[in-house]
Amino acid sequence: MRLDVVTIFPEYLDPLDVSLVGKARARGPLDVHVHDLRQWAHDRHNTVDDTPYGGGPGMVMKTDPWGEALDSVVADGYESGAGRPVLVVPTPSGRPFTQETAVRLSEQPWLIFTPARYEGIDRRVVDEYATRVPVLELSIGDYVLAGGEAAVLVMVEAVARLLPGVLGNAESHRDDSFAPGAMVDLLEGPVYTKPPLWRGRGVPEVLVSGHHGRIARWRRDEALHRTAEHRPDLIERCDPAAFDKHDRATLAALGWQPGPGGRYVRGPLADAEGDDGSGDPEPATGTARRR
Ligand code: ADE
Repeated sequence: MRLDVVTIFPEYLDPLDVSLVGKARARGPLDVHVHDLRQWAHDRHNTVDDTPYGGGPGMVMKTDPWGEALDSVVADGYESGAGRPVLVVPTPSGRPFTQETAVRLSEQPWLIFTPARYEGIDRRVVDEYATRVPVLELSIGDYVLAGGEAAVLVMVEAVARLLPGVLGNAESHRDDSFAPGAMVDLLEGPVYTKPPLWRGRGVPEVLVSGHHGRIARWRRDEALHRTAEHRPDLIERCDPAAFDKHDRATLAALGWQPGPGGRYVRGPLADAEGDDGSGDPEPATGTARRR
């Protein structure tokens, strides 16, 4: 896979030389090109931004440097036979970048990232390129970064680890939290390694039992507990057909029940437990007050 990143801070992308992505680069599955946008700024000060039309705070990145940069990068990639590029525009106003997006991107031969600073890039650049190549405007989360470079690092790492031969164990990402295709997206539970005793803390007995069935069940219960606590929205989204009998019992013990549409919702017991922090369940009569 070929990756191009056009930025005013090329050094910000230095971590792409390190660890998993660095190795993928050195070994060949990833061909990374980082470009300084200011190469395509032609005035004395290498200006890449200007004041916004319509007024307002901050600056907007100018059309010309981006237009020339992208023309040049695209021409170079086509010449080297990279296939068809997908333009990835990191922006807090983009669609959410998810594991599913990472999988889709990992299937592409060539990605071009355009991390912006200031208030973003003049809209005409994206509109122009959208007539030539697929463009994805993506956000890595509901917060605003000072620029898109950190978002590029996040997306590249999530994509690179999915490329064939990049992770040591080909199976490693099959069980990832959020692996697409899974009927249930559960967060992964805790993991342990040696020593068996650390500062008086042991390892859950079941993990050293050698009993694979019990270990798998324990891991799934831990995943259900963790998901219910940290991401109840994921439980609510799950297809209930994906829960086996034991899952349903675990969820019921955590205060979850099938709702009117069949999907699981947190029942009155769970609400009551969350309410006063005492952990004491409310009497069943005091039920749906908070729903
Ligand atoms: N640039 C600034 N904030 C961002 C975000 N949350 N995601 C992607 N790019 C960004």
